[in-house]
Amino acid sequence: MKYYVPKDSAAVSIGAEDTAHALTRAIGEADVVRTGSRGFYWLEPLVEIEQDGRRLGFGPIEAGDVEALIAAVSDGSVENHPRYVGDIDTLLREQGQRRLTFARCGVIAPTDWDAFVAHGGSAGLRAALQHDGQKIVDSVKESGLRGRGGAGFPTGIKWQTVHDAPATPKYIVCNADEGDSGTYADRMLMEGDPFTLFEGMAIAGVAVGAEHGYIYLRSEYPDAARTLKAALDVARENSMLGADIFGSGKAFDIQVRMGAGAYICGEETSLLESLEGKRGLVRFKPPLPAIQGFMGQPTVINNVITLATVPSILAQGAPNYHDLGVNKSRGTLTIQLCGNVARPGLYEMPFGVTLDHLINDIGGGCASGRPVRAVQVGGPLGAYVPAEHLGTQLGYEEMAEVKAMIGHGGVVVFDDTVDMAQQARFAMEFCDIESCGKCTPCRVGSVRAQEVIDRIIDERDRDENIELLRELCDTMINGSLCAHGGMAPFPVLSALNHFPQDFGVAEPAET
Ligand code: NAI
Ligand code: SF4
Repeated sequence: MKYYVPKDSAAVSIGAEDTAHALTRAIGEADVVRTGSRGFYWLEPLVEIEQDGRRLGFGPIEAGDVEALIAAVSDGSVENHPRYVGDIDTLLREQGQRRLTFARCGVIAPTDWDAFVAHGGSAGLRAALQHDGQKIVDSVKESGLRGRGGAGFPTGIKWQTVHDAPATPKYIVCNADEGDSGTYADRMLMEGDPFTLFEGMAIAGVAVGAEHGYIYLRSEYPDAARTLKAALDVARENSMLGADIFGSGKAFDIQVRMGAGAYICGEETSLLESLEGKRGLVRFKPPLPAIQGFMGQPTVINNVITLATVPSILAQGAPNYHDLGVNKSRGTLTIQLCGNVARPGLYEMPFGVTLDHLINDIGGGCASGRPVRAVQVGGPLGAYVPAEHLGTQLGYEEMAEVKAMIGHGGVVVFDDTVDMAQQARFAMEFCDIESCGKCTPCRVGSVRAQEVIDRIIDERDRDENIELLRELCDTMINGSLCAHGGMAPFPVLSALNHFPQDFGVAEPAET
C-alpha cells in the first residue's frame, strides 16, 4: 500500500514533513510517495492512499495521527476514519473543478518521469512536434487561451507576433515572479508538476522558432527552485529538453534565473532588465518584448500558468479547451481562494463560476462565521468587490463590468469587520514600497495618497481631501508608466465608492 503525502511548501509549513517522517518510520520509505499539493489547503497535511484504482484522502493528518490511520487501512475500516474525506476525484468533480493545467499536481511525484508520462505528460509536445510553428500558433489561438499573469492578452496573438518577427535568435521567458498577495498557483505548479511547465515552454519554442528558455523565479520560492533544477536534469535525460528533443532534430533548453525580491520585476520589461543583469526598472513600450525583448531579440514572455496550460491544449485539441468557459474567457481559471474563508485553496474551474458560489458554496463562507463584506480579486492592485456584486461571474469582461479584474486569479475574502479606509491606505503604501521610482505619478503620488487618506481618516478637511484623493488617483491612472502605479488607485477608488461610510461619508459616493 502506497501513501501519498505532499511536499508542497504550504503543506510542509503546517506539518506535512513530520507526517511523512512518521509514515516512513512506520512503513518504510519505499511506500511513501511525496507529491505536490491537490490544493485542498484546509485539509493539509492531506494523506492519500490508493485503493481499487481510486485515491482516498484523509486530512488533516498530523504525525500523531499516523498510527491510527495505518491501523484503519490495515483492518479495512478507512471509511469510518474520522478524517476520511473520500475519493479525491469525486471531491474535485463535486466542486465543479476541471483539472487541465493541474491534472497531475498532487497526483505524482514531481520529478518522476515515468509517472508523468503514464499520466499523459509529454503528449502535447509530441503532438506539437508533428506540426510546423504556424499550426501550433493557430491551435493556441483557436483555444482562446489568454495570458494568466493578469492582463488576459490572447496568447496565440502574442506568439504570432514572435513567430512573424524576422530577427533571430528568439527567446521564451517564463514569468515566475509571482508577486501578488494571495496568489500561489505558479509556485504550486512548479513544485508539483514542473515537467508540464517545461513542456509548455518547449512547445512555445518549437512554435516561434526559439531554442533557449529562461524561468525567472522569485527568490522567495527556494523549494520551487530546488524542484525545478532537479526536474531539468530529468527532463534532459529523457530528451524533452536538449539538442534533439524526442529525436525530432529540434533543440530547446531552459535555465532557471533567480530574482532578488522586487515585486516590480514581475512587470515584464523590468523582468527583462533584471534577467539581463541590470536593475529592475520598467522600460518604455513600444517596442513590445515580442519584437525586442530579452537582449533586444523577439521574446515570448508568458506567466507559468499560461505556459503550463498549453500542453493540454495540444494534447487534447483546441476545441476541447475552447468548449469550457464563458463568453470571451475560455478554458479554466486557476483560482486561488484565500483570506477569511473556511476552505482556502486552489480551484481549477471553467470560467463563469460566480464569486458567490465560489466563496459561499465551495469555500464554505468566511472562516470567522461572519458575513462576507468585500472580496479583493486580482492581487493588491485589484478592486474590492462588495457583497452585492458577488453574483458576478469570473470572466475577464464580466469582472470589468463591475470595475474589477481577474488578474492572476487570487480571490481574498474579508468579513464585515474589515476597515476599508485602512485597506485603501494599504494599497497606496504597497505601491510606494514596491515602486521602481522611474515615474513621478507612482513614486510621489503613492506617498501623497497615504497622507491624504490619513487626513480623511483623522477627519481633517474631509470633503476637500476626498476630492484631492480622487484627483490624485486620476493622475496616477493616466500618468503612470506601468500598471503598478496605473492600477494602485483601483482598490482605493473601489473602497471609496462602495464603502464610503468607512471614510466618514454618509451618502453613497459617485461610482
Ligand atoms: P499589457 O496589457 O500591457 O500587456 C499584456 C501582454 O500582452 C504583455 O506581455 C504585452 O507585451 C503583450 N502584448 C500587447 N500587445 C501585443 C501585441 N500586439 N503583440 C504581442 N504581444 C502584445 O499588460 P502588462 O502591463 O504586461 O500586465 C498588467 C497586468 O499584470 C495587470 O492586469 C495585473 O493583473 C498583472 N499583474 C500580475 C502580477 C502577478 O503576480 N502575476 C503582479 C502585478 C500585476
Ligand atoms: Fe516604476 Fe511605478 Fe512608474 Fe511603474 S508606475 S514605471 S513601478 S514608478
